[in-house]
Amino acid sequence: MTMEIAVDPTGNVLTLKQGDDCMRFHAIWLRDNAQDAETRSPANGQRLIALRDIPRETRIASANIGEAGVELRFEPEDKTVVFNTGWLRAHAYDRSFQQSRGWVADDVECWDSSISDNVPTGTLPELESGGDALKSWLDGATRYGFAKVEGGPTEEGALFRVVDLFGYVRETNYGRLFEVRTEVNPTNLAYTGLGLQAHTDNPYRDPAPTIQVLYCLESTAEGGENMVVDGFACARRLQQENPEHFDVLANYCARFEYAGEDGVCLTSRRPLIELSPDGELIAIRFNNRSLATVTDIPFDKMDLWYAAYRRLGEIIDDPSMEVTFRLNPGEAFIVDNTRVLHARKAYSGTGKRWLQGCYADKDGLRSTRDAMCRKPAEAAE
Ligand code: FE2
Repeated sequence: MTMEIAVDPTGNVLTLKQGDDCMRFHAIWLRDNAQDAETRSPANGQRLIALRDIPRETRIASANIGEAGVELRFEPEDKTVVFNTGWLRAHAYDRSFQQSRGWVADDVECWDSSISDNVPTGTLPELESGGDALKSWLDGATRYGFAKVEGGPTEEGALFRVVDLFGYVRETNYGRLFEVRTEVNPTNLAYTGLGLQAHTDNPYRDPAPTIQVLYCLESTAEGGENMVVDGFACARRLQQENPEHFDVLANYCARFEYAGEDGVCLTSRRPLIELSPDGELIAIRFNNRSLATVTDIPFDKMDLWYAAYRRLGEIIDDPSMEVTFRLNPGEAFIVDNTRVLHARKAYSGTGKRWLQGCYADKDGLRSTRDAMCRKPAEAAE
């Protein structure tokens, strides 16, 4: 099917039509996104010019479709640029934007207990060899915000080998890694045998760590199973049940705090449900231990906020939302700490339970995955 091309009389809008398919582009957008060697570095794909280098009165003086693609001449620069039609199609923005509040990205899939048998899992040596095994594990970790690793060694610091698969450790006041086992005078309730309600870690940090790794070194105690819950699925269920509950948790900030050690006073002011300006669900913060006194909700909304917080907690506690598993020595899991909550069942004093944990960042995880997927020619877009 042939593509029709037209420019409006002002030279401000290009229209490409193919059958029922119609895409419009603005002159300034096209000029700014030119892929030629003077606009973009052929070596690294970075833009060589700033918007100030493009005349305010930029317009399309002529447009043709040729062998190489859509050829446009911009005035007043008298600059000719060729756009690949596939590239234009892939970056078209002339579409409906009617997404409801709480939408999630295409590569994110919300889940409940029914994925228990399909958790993305890889063995450490296989993942370390890269290739498809690593790519599909990274894909799964991005899609579900949760993935397991098996077949690792039972040695201290082995959790860093999990981080090495995709990124870098984020060091905090807890150290490069933290030990999760029973302590006599714990600085944090995580270092006791108490059961912990599902939570995201460290919501009092700004920014909060975006990946947590927990690696098992010993596990002979009764209980102590791990559990994970998809916070996005819980937030969307809350929204379905009661949109007002969802909105009040998204529209107002809670506060979080940790000051359990000398010289440490970490505080943040963020909502329990965080949306981007266009309504994308981007983060959940939920941690009963570190929720501080909340003072940023108007008086006439405070009751509603507490009802919504309570209901979100009930949904998080609902066994139909959770995946429970037992980590054996040499096994680990990672969670997207901006989305997936984790919990631990109580465990007894007999036997031992020893995990090591650390934080990392999910931009590294996505970067590693995307670099494996993208063709070199697209890398700079
Ligand atoms: Fe935790």
